[in-house]
Amino acid sequence: MRAASSCSIRRIEPVRKVEGRLRLPGDKSISHRYAMLGAVAEGSTEIQGFASSADCQSTLDCLLGLGVRIEQEGNHVKIEGRGITGLRKPSGPLNAGNSGSTMRMLCGILAGQSFNSMLTGDESLSRRPMKRVIEPLTRMGARIHSAPGGLPPLEIEGARLTAIHYQPPVASAQVKSAVLFAGLLAEGETEVYELIPTRNHTEIALEQMGAALVRSGNHITVRGPALLHGLRVQIPRDISSAAFFLVAALLVPGSRLTIENVGLNPTRTAILDVLCGMGAPIRTHNLRNINGEPVGDIEITYSEIEGGELPLESIPNLIDELPVLAVLGAHTSQGISFRGAAELRVKESDRLAVVAENLRRLGAKVEEFPDGLHVPGGQKLRGSTVESYGDHRIAMAFAIAGLAAEGGVAVHGSDCTAVSFPEFFATLAEVSHY
Ligand code: S3P
Repeated sequence: MRAASSCSIRRIEPVRKVEGRLRLPGDKSISHRYAMLGAVAEGSTEIQGFASSADCQSTLDCLLGLGVRIEQEGNHVKIEGRGITGLRKPSGPLNAGNSGSTMRMLCGILAGQSFNSMLTGDESLSRRPMKRVIEPLTRMGARIHSAPGGLPPLEIEGARLTAIHYQPPVASAQVKSAVLFAGLLAEGETEVYELIPTRNHTEIALEQMGAALVRSGNHITVRGPALLHGLRVQIPRDISSAAFFLVAALLVPGSRLTIENVGLNPTRTAILDVLCGMGAPIRTHNLRNINGEPVGDIEITYSEIEGGELPLESIPNLIDELPVLAVLGAHTSQGISFRGAAELRVKESDRLAVVAENLRRLGAKVEEFPDGLHVPGGQKLRGSTVESYGDHRIAMAFAIAGLAAEGGVAVHGSDCTAVSFPEFFATLAEVSHY
């Protein structure tokens, strides 16, 4: 495994407990979608609570490169829409940074424009598979050239698109979104059928912006060419960022956390279902609906956790939470195991290999499968140094491990937390009691 390029190191010492009220950054997935759709809508889109993540900033940078006017003040972002075919030819490559969502979803929009464009990314993104979007978009008439093996950079020749019916071979909300975004530009009805439903923020955002979208079971149909209208939207806080703190509260006896205004869309709450099923005392309050997205406060108190096997059908909706659940596994009575997660091997790092390696560095036993892990329970982690491999969710999962590891954990390459959660270490410090 190649080491992370960053040499930043953070030491997390064991705590007496974690306690407090948390306000997390805006949801990354929803922020990407409103930024991209706002850019191709008519009129302006005002986004409150826009994610502070570097990934979402990459999306805004790409949109700036496409001639979109954007005003940004903290987490308030105003986007002047240019209409569905009104983006401007960029003067150079568009850099998606570390963000797979930016590259894959934007590809759907760029495929149907009247100009050519190029999408590039950092070293990690340059190793991530893009065939999954190239294949359906090519079927729609797009012309996309990649590096060998379907890897970035992507050269996209703008083309007239035709509607297709598509069943993605991998459960991926990014692929679904790329096809639906291209469907906005194609004549007729584009349909995506998902074997296992994935996060549905694209569908909700399209409905909010007035697209002709029909959802029926696992079928989603959008009619193009579409006319989207700009809107004012409030982004809920990110449940995938909340997951690290939910696990933190379950590692240290006496802990208690309240996490405010979190997105509770049922396609994202598998983490709550799984933890509750293992005996975690979690309650949700103040439930409401904001711009079509369920939102509420989450309250969690420490309890011993049984663990168990994660249900196969929940894996796509838990995919970003699996690294930190693996850390929790060592502290449960039965351990945690999961299969059906081969996708973790093509995330920002090979998350199965990296989680296994780092758990072993902390003295834990772990069994690695081609598509999953088994982390036996009842293990006391020993402090050591772990490596993030430049992957934000690995850095955060193992920082959380430090809260309960004898002697603490030093995370090498900790700067990458900015990819999804720049305030992570400050937030952790606020609720840590020594
Ligand atoms: C995302 C979908 C998931 C997830 C990623 C964000 C999205 O990726 O892992 O962090 O916003 O649609 P896949 O679509 O590749 O499963």
